[in-house]
Amino acid sequence: MAGRIPKSFIDDVLDKTDIVELIDQRVQLKKAGRNYQACCPFHNEKTPSFSVSPEKQFYYCFGCGATGNAITFVMEYDRLEFVDAIEDLAHNLGMDVPREAQEQPQRQWSHDLYELMSRAAVFYQQQLRKPGHERAIEYLKNRGLSGEIAKDFKLGFVPDEWHSLSQLFGQQPSMNKALVDCGLLIQKENNHYDRFRDRIMFPIRDRRGRVIAFGGRVLDKGEPKYLNSPETEIFHKGQELYGLYEVRQANRKVEWITVVEGYMDVVSLAQFGIRNAVATLGTATSSAHIHQLFRVCPKIIFCFDGDRAGRDAALRALNQSLNHIRDNREIRFMFLPDGEDPDTQVRKIGADAFSQQLQKAPTLFEFLFEHLKSQVDLNTFEGPGKLANIAKPFVNQIEDPIHRERFLASLSKDVGLSEQKLTQLLDEHQPQTPAPAPAAQKASSMSQLTPVRKIIKVLLHKGSYVETIDDYDWLPKSRVAGKDLLYQMLEILRNNPHMSTGALIEHWRGTQYEPHLNKLINDTPVIPIEEMAQEIPAIMVKLKEETLVQRREELVARDRTGPPLTPEERKELRSLY
Ligand code: GTP
Ligand code: MN
Repeated sequence: MAGRIPKSFIDDVLDKTDIVELIDQRVQLKKAGRNYQACCPFHNEKTPSFSVSPEKQFYYCFGCGATGNAITFVMEYDRLEFVDAIEDLAHNLGMDVPREAQEQPQRQWSHDLYELMSRAAVFYQQQLRKPGHERAIEYLKNRGLSGEIAKDFKLGFVPDEWHSLSQLFGQQPSMNKALVDCGLLIQKENNHYDRFRDRIMFPIRDRRGRVIAFGGRVLDKGEPKYLNSPETEIFHKGQELYGLYEVRQANRKVEWITVVEGYMDVVSLAQFGIRNAVATLGTATSSAHIHQLFRVCPKIIFCFDGDRAGRDAALRALNQSLNHIRDNREIRFMFLPDGEDPDTQVRKIGADAFSQQLQKAPTLFEFLFEHLKSQVDLNTFEGPGKLANIAKPFVNQIEDPIHRERFLASLSKDVGLSEQKLTQLLDEHQPQTPAPAPAAQKASSMSQLTPVRKIIKVLLHKGSYVETIDDYDWLPKSRVAGKDLLYQMLEILRNNPHMSTGALIEHWRGTQYEPHLNKLINDTPVIPIEEMAQEIPAIMVKLKEETLVQRREELVARDRTGPPLTPEERKELRSLY
């Protein structure tokens, strides 16, 4: 397994890449003042709202909010994973991507959970062929699966024993502990036994193809029908999709993906040549799932049972989907006839008909309208008002302005009101105070620029202002919101004050801070950055004072109530007077 890419290398790649040149190779840019402009490649538009800043090495679309550095652009535009995006950029620069030496696993027992899972998967696969286990193969055959498909999905079998895995891994205490950690063993007091017994095993792989969990199905009747691995260090149910790795393996270019409910549905569709299916792992579709799918392809077709439970699941998926809608994306909802699942349906009607039905399934908006209209009688006097009312929570979730507009236009036809009147009506249904006018909104978001955010904003725009701050060792002790982020930023910039905005923000990719940082970069400052920067020394002095006073009060209080102060704390307390 390759080690991590060193952070310093990523800094270096971003430092040497020119984002303007990079984007210009894919989308023609025009100079406009200090920046460059184009029609946004991430949504449909006629007038350019996509702007690239050579100084910041950052892009931003005023229309759809797309934003990021060179790595983000390559990930989004070329649909690459993070690591692949870096390899691509490095390749353009003629650089080889170094890998950190495999860091010593922090686990004291030094078992790599990925490796254990992979060995277990191979073991289960071998068990399938073992004499005495014929009924496992029989089961798969009866369900219409070929050896080839079983191999592609690494299907396996675990015999009806309490200690199959000890044949493979032995029974060392450290090994048992690791196997408990990856969910393969169950520990009861001092005894360990196999979680999975007498089941067909479906390995669940992550995006890189590593086995991270298993689903196990009983062969005959039995409870539970499916048993899944528990959440572990390497397996987070709500984020993984069964079959996604296999979809990417089977298709050079993935055009669409259908989301089904069961493991068996995924495998069965693959058996029929539809290698485009993934399943959630017995959980509802999450926003993280949808996000992942749109990274792989532009079209998602949810496939649900036609019964009540299926409709409810569809509505939940719809709710998670609305804010992912963009112009170049498509979401559809297919409902199967009552009593069928994708596995039985594809056997009944064949792959071609099944595929066609998927492609013709109602779009998200068709499904939404149908759902809304089924709840009101538009022929009654109150009907239209009620429709507007129940539509409201959905409207609010549509982030994409164009789709919101289109949805409102469509809705206004149905309720027989002008769009203007409808918008007004929707606003009236707003609880409490009406939405502030845009100008007021802007002002309030500006006044929310706390002192710490101000400094962060300045540093994001021009890292070299770090040189105006030398005394900040006290910052970790402060209780002010954002101090950790500010501290990290100061430490990074102190080593490299001339880092671009794009390279700086890379350090928080995927963290809770990322959206806030993007906002701080992209919101136009009311006062110029240079002016804001003048305030920094005063802000820091004030924060430090507050911190020291707080710290003193804290230590004094502790001194009174205990636990007793350590000698260092005593010394610190004296220094605070
Ligand atoms: P087959 O009966 O093998 O065709 O499976 P199915 O996919 O048709 O089964 P079902 O519709 O009952 O279940 C769909 C999915 O829900 C499964 O793939 C599992 O992920 C999950 N599931 C079903 N039964 C259980 C259960 O008893 N426990 C848990 N944890 N998950 C289950
Ligand atoms: Mn089934």
